[in-house]
Parts: sequence; C-alpha cells; structure tokens
Amino acid sequence: MLNVGLIGCGNIAETYFRSQEYFNNINFISCTDINEEAAKKCADQYNIKIQSVDDLLSNPDIDVILNLTVPQAHHEVTKKILLAGKHSYCEKPLSISFEQGKELVEIAKEKNIYLGNAPDTFLGAGGQLSRQLLDVGEIGDVQLGNFIFAFPGVETFHHNPDSWYKKGGGPIIDMGPYFFTMLVHLLGPAKNVQSRGIKVKENRIIDAGPRKDEKVIVEVPTSYTFNVEFRSGALIQGFISFDVINHQRNHMELYGTKGSMIVPDPNMFGGPVTISKEIGSEWVDHSVDAMHLGKVNIINHSGRTNEAPQQSNYRGAGLADLIYAIENNTEHRCNGNLALHVLDLIESTINAAELGQEITLQTTCNKPAPFTEDQISHIMK
Ligand SMILES: NC(=O)c1ccc[n+]([C@@H]2O[C@H](COP(=O)([O-])OP(=O)(O)OC[C@H]3O[C@@H](n4cnc5c(N)ncnc54)[C@H](O)[C@@H]3O)[C@@H](O)[C@H]2O)c1
Repeated sequence: MLNVGLIGCGNIAETYFRSQEYFNNINFISCTDINEEAAKKCADQYNIKIQSVDDLLSNPDIDVILNLTVPQAHHEVTKKILLAGKHSYCEKPLSISFEQGKELVEIAKEKNIYLGNAPDTFLGAGGQLSRQLLDVGEIGDVQLGNFIFAFPGVETFHHNPDSWYKKGGGPIIDMGPYFFTMLVHLLGPAKNVQSRGIKVKENRIIDAGPRKDEKVIVEVPTSYTFNVEFRSGALIQGFISFDVINHQRNHMELYGTKGSMIVPDPNMFGGPVTISKEIGSEWVDHSVDAMHLGKVNIINHSGRTNEAPQQSNYRGAGLADLIYAIENNTEHRCNGNLALHVLDLIESTINAAELGQEITLQTTCNKPAPFTEDQISHIMK
C-alpha cells in the first residue's frame, strides 16, 4: 500500500481524512503545516506523525504528498514535492498563475511523476451520469448552456478568508475549477472566453471564528459574468459571484438539439440529472442514488446559501484514482493536462475582464476517461 503525507492542515483536511473511510487505498501517515499548532492538532486527531515540511518531503516511507495549502502556495509546495521525487496531488487550482502551472506539468513529465489536481467532483455520480447521458445523445448536440455559482462570500463561514480577497484569490480561482472542469469533462476543451468583472464592496467583515467582526480589504473583483466558447462550438454563459445573498437558479443547464439537461452541482458528487425532451414537457429525474459516488453521505446543518442540506461528498476520489493509477501504471483522471487547461481558462477569464477583450486559450486537453461503476469499485472499501 502506498503512503500519503499531508502538507496543509486547514479547513479541508478533515474531508480528506474522512475519505479513508470510503476509499481502500488512501493511507495518511504524516502531516505538516507552517502553522505548527494546526499540524499538531491534525496529527493528534488522526494519530499520524507530525514532521517539518523538509522532513516530510524527504521521508522515504511517503510515496504521495497531498497539498492542501492555500492556492497562493500551491506552486511553491507542489514544486518542492515533485523535486523531492514524490507523486503529488493538490487541491484546486493547480496554481494561481498559468506559467507556474505549466512549469509544474513540465517537471512532472520530465521526472515521470504523477501530478494530480482537484477538483475531483466530476468523478461523482452526478457528473458521470450527465456524461453518460450526453454521450448516448439523450439531448442531442449541445451548443448552448449556462451555469451559476453565487453566494455572499467565504467570510460567512471561513475563519481566515483573507486569501480569497487578495491577488490570486477571487471567485473565478476559487469556484471556477469546479464548473470549468465539469464542462471540459462533459463538452471537451474550451477555445476562448469573453468576460467582465466587478468589485461590489471595498471590504468584507469576517462572520465566524476568533476573528469575527475583523475587516478584510478586498483587492480583486468579486463577481464575473462571462461566456466561454468550446472547441465543440458550444457557447456557455457563466456567472460566478461572492456578492449574492440568495438565488433560485439551477447550478448548470445544457441545451441540446433534442432536449435540455440540468446538471447537478459541480461542487458536489450527487444528483439527480434532470432532463426534458419536449416543449413544455415534464422534467424527468435520473437518479444516482444507486451509484457508488452518488449516495448521500453528508447531512449538512450549516444552512449555507447554495448548498443542499443533503450532499454526496466523496472528495478524495481523485487522489484514490491517482494512487490506483500509480499502482497499475495507467492514467489518472484528475491529471496535470486537464488541470492546466482549466487554469488556462481561469486566468483567461480574469484577464479577459481586466483587458476588456476576448482571449483565446493557449492549451487544450483530452476529455477525462469516464469513471465506470466497475472501475470505481476497485477503489471503494
Ligand atoms: N475550505 C473548503 O471548503 C475547501 C473546499 C474545497 C477545496 N478547498 C481548497 O483546499 C485548499 C485549502 O483550503 P482550506 O480551506 O483548507 O484553507 P486553510 O486556510 O483553512 O488551510 C490551509 C493550511 O495550509 C497551511 N499553509 C499555507 N501555506 C503553507 C506552506 N507554504 N507550507 C505548509 N503549510 C502551508 C496554512 O497554515 C493552513 O493551515 C485550497 O486550495 C482551497 O481552494 C477548500
């Protein structure tokens, strides 16, 4: 069994530790953080070793390192992991700059090391069933669609929301990965983007934790409206915002020549996938309840805007798929080429708004291979 070391023991670490309950090949043995207290808490709670960053990087017992640091540190930390000769899996995004992301993909390639990156939510039953239905032509050829992520901002729940409002933060870098990765998985690579951004408030007030009522100065636009043209010809309209108190739109809708599809939340793993094929006809739910990564496993009492009270959250599936790929010498789905293309789309969306002009992407990638129930069963407990 391969062993995993963790760098970055913050908010999301708990979710990854929980993934050991679902997946049969994730085994954390050690953790580290520049905040020693955070690392100690994590090590105590999960009964694993605490190490310095350098000691963890050179630990011969560790095969794969999971990078859960803040996006601004992803490049620096992932680069260290790769140069230490370890396989790397990082939370989204790959980096906050395309050039840095490209460097990581090149290093991994040169060293013949696996580079994996979140999001892995498209591996969930909702994303996989949407893909299956599109691939069999259930709604015909998709040439149009839209999506929305909108809520009042991370300061409503996160104790240290600062990085979300500094350069390298903002809603496209934070939430774009989920929607862009899902779209590339469903429609293939993107071609170009037009975009506009707006900063609605000059500062934010932290609403939770020990720093409650502290002010955070906003340095970046907090809402974007944009459209992406895909290589398939599909034109998809996007809206991503940290400035909306409430809304009632569907997360993502795709319009095909034979019908329309409501794609479930790209930030989660569940369903259903809903389809309508006649003018004015009923919407039909395609359930994912019987699929491996579709079963509800979270009952959420937070009442966070934009979050369903019952969720399927199998974050860690991408890491488990990467470990399986290392062991079986195959390609993992949340791979560097996909993450780099998504980063290209993220950066292009931000730059298109800043420059007021359409931007053509520099990269392309393959659609990730479907994740069949049989393949998933190999990594499930
Ligand atoms: N919080 C969420 O709900 C959530 C959900 C999905 C994905 N993510 C992603 O997970 C990542 C982490 O998010 P989070 O909410 O856990 O952040 P966080 O701020 O709670 O935790 C990040 C941790 O990384 C540590 N760190 C920062 N730079 C470091 C470095 N150079 N070396 C070692 N440790 C370092 C910090 O001290 C901190 O403990 C981000 O990329 C985020 O986009 C977060």
